[in-house]
Amino acid sequence: MNTLIQKPEEVAEGHYRLRIETPATLVPRPGQFINIRVSTGTDPLIRRPFSVYNYEDGALEIIFRVIGKGTEIMRGYEAGRGIDYIGPLGRGFSLCEHSSVLLVGGGVGNAPLYYLARELKKKNNRITYIYGARSARYIYCKDQYRARADDFAAVTDDGTAGLKGFATTLADEYIRKNAYDRVYVCGPTVMMAAIAASASIAGAPVEVSMENYFGCGVGLCSGCTIETTEGLKRACVDGPVLNGNIIVWQSLTD
Ligand SMILES: Cc1cc2nc3c(=O)[nH]c(=O)nc-3n(C[C@H](O)[C@H](O)[C@H](O)COP(=O)(O)OP(=O)(O)OC[C@H]3O[C@@H](n4cnc5c(N)ncnc54)[C@H](O)[C@@H]3O)c2cc1C
Ligand code: FES
Repeated sequence: MNTLIQKPEEVAEGHYRLRIETPATLVPRPGQFINIRVSTGTDPLIRRPFSVYNYEDGALEIIFRVIGKGTEIMRGYEAGRGIDYIGPLGRGFSLCEHSSVLLVGGGVGNAPLYYLARELKKKNNRITYIYGARSARYIYCKDQYRARADDFAAVTDDGTAGLKGFATTLADEYIRKNAYDRVYVCGPTVMMAAIAASASIAGAPVEVSMENYFGCGVGLCSGCTIETTEGLKRACVDGPVLNGNIIVWQSLTD
């Protein structure tokens, strides 16, 4: 059991940050996730997966959006509570060195990209970050993201912060104009599919973090299977980070 360091902090409307004390032997890689048993009872029974947002000085952080029973329970946690989680799990992002990289996040899908940006910065990469959100009120920790990026742009569907429009449009424009060594994306399926297509046309490698439904989270139930050009993959153990160019996007729904 790991201890919750502080009460969930609301960082944007309906979005909370959890800080969990974690032993130094369990340092995550960017893109990995933890699988939390949210309740001490049997409802909900299945663990809930969350990407690592940050890890620093023995504290692992996640950002979660309240959308259902499990996350509603998590919102009510008190500091000092024991958190029953398994992880870090799954395959994370590959870390380039001395390269020019584009990171694109959509909504809560920005979460794993913060820790990624931090680690990429340590490896002397030039980082362009596109932060996509529906509206200004759903943007969390913007200054932290901005501080890790060489170039930063926010895009909102309604234009209440940054540019008005979709992250996909801006990403496509950037990819056409710049020769990125790698593109990293996490967000809604349609967004990842569009950016993977843009990167593929430009010949840039693209890594996506899949946040589809998970059952067991450890490779046992096949509940997270994704169709790829290399056969079926289990997102929990073969991913969640996968090569965006091998995913059969039309077989997926958001
Ligand atoms: C690898 C991975 C990493 C993730 N990282 C994060 C993260 O960093 N932050 C975060 O907020 N969420 C993340 N998620 C999604 C998160 O796991 C779900 O939002 C959470 O399990 C919902 O639990 P709940 O009990 O509140 O909702 P439920 O009561 O289970 O569901 C509520 C509603 O949300 C829908 N829903 C539930 N899970 C998903 C899902 N995975 N995809 C699409 N719709 C879903 C259900 O259909 C239902 O309509 C991640 C998922 C995966 C697989
Ligand atoms: S969630 Fe069970 S195999 Fe992936």
